[in-house]
Amino acid sequence: MTVDHPEVTAGTAAVDAALRTFLAERRAGAAAIGEGYATAVADLEEYVLRGGKRVRPTFAWTGWLGAGGDPDGPTAPAVLRTCAALELLHASALIHDDIVDASRTRRGFPSAHVAFADRHRERGWSGDPDAYGTGAALLVGDLALVWADDLVRTSGLPADAMTRVGPVWSAMRTEVLCGQLLDLAAEARGDESADAALLKDRYKTASYTVERPLHVGAAAAGADQGLVAAYRAFGADIGLAFQLRDDVLGVFGDPEVTGKPSGDDIREGKRTVLLATALRRADDRDPAAARFLRSRIGTDVSEDDLDSVRAILVGLGAVAYVEREITRRRDRAVAVLERSAATRPARERLAAMALSATQRSR
Ligand code: IPE
Ligand code: IPE
Ligand code: MG
Ligand code: MG
Repeated sequence: MTVDHPEVTAGTAAVDAALRTFLAERRAGAAAIGEGYATAVADLEEYVLRGGKRVRPTFAWTGWLGAGGDPDGPTAPAVLRTCAALELLHASALIHDDIVDASRTRRGFPSAHVAFADRHRERGWSGDPDAYGTGAALLVGDLALVWADDLVRTSGLPADAMTRVGPVWSAMRTEVLCGQLLDLAAEARGDESADAALLKDRYKTASYTVERPLHVGAAAAGADQGLVAAYRAFGADIGLAFQLRDDVLGVFGDPEVTGKPSGDDIREGKRTVLLATALRRADDRDPAAARFLRSRIGTDVSEDDLDSVRAILVGLGAVAYVEREITRRRDRAVAVLERSAATRPARERLAAMALSATQRSR
């Protein structure tokens, strides 16, 4: 995440170093077990290290600093490992998400299941390449999840800090899976309610992206309830706005910049706040647009139809509404932060991070 504060930048680099060390250890252990496993571990290592904005560890680290954590103190390495675990949890979520969403690219590369299928095809292995790709990606995603747990458990956090962090970590894991299930169910049912879209966004993204990472940082530092509550309120709003931005990028983003496909949300029939808003407005004032949207959502739309969908979303003011909602949540979050007991440098950094998380183009 691009935030030019020396302690934050140093923290993000140190998180990467912790990830590198952990994954290299696991790779060394894998070599002794066998080729099929060792290759998958090397693939996971490459997947984690070659890209990503590192939003979650950066929020957790900054949250810890803001709650009085000392970057030069004896607990810092354990906190960095805990922050690194968030990135492994995220890798697991992304690998599985791309299977669920049938998304073929991620961070500018083929998604994990696509890469595994491609390898199967190139080598002329027996069986169905796509089934192999999905199976391998499910298992590697599971590996990332259990290793995230291992990283926390072996982080070296002092016992009292671990007692505080454990329940937060557990809640976060459950919340992201719960959100993904809500997302899938909303898509299958064709749920058109904006409230349902907001609820799933809160669980699938806001929780594990901003709210709980800050909570983990605060818990590790032993922050009081007032600061925890402020971090969580800030995190819920910024995390939600982060997903609203993702939804806009999912339809209007440049795949060269996002590293993800554009239009997949429409093709998959994702029940985003953007879409719910457009449908509600179309029902009120433009029945032809409403019919067109409903006929195209969740189908293999052509590029021309996708352009028409984009024009309708803009014309109905749905994009402008989502942009206002992003700004409203960001302003509210920053106001809470400013009144909080977080240290002044952390408040400044978190405000800058709130901006880059919600005004990004990738
Ligand atoms: C993408 O998260 C998944 C969502 C929760 C929207 P990021 O945008 O943080 O993905 P990377 O890590 O930078 O690739
Ligand atoms: C991703 O949500 C949420 C998780 C990975 C848990 P999306 O499906 O909306 O995110 P992208 O656009 O594929 O990154
Ligand atoms: Mg998804
Ligand atoms: Mg997705």
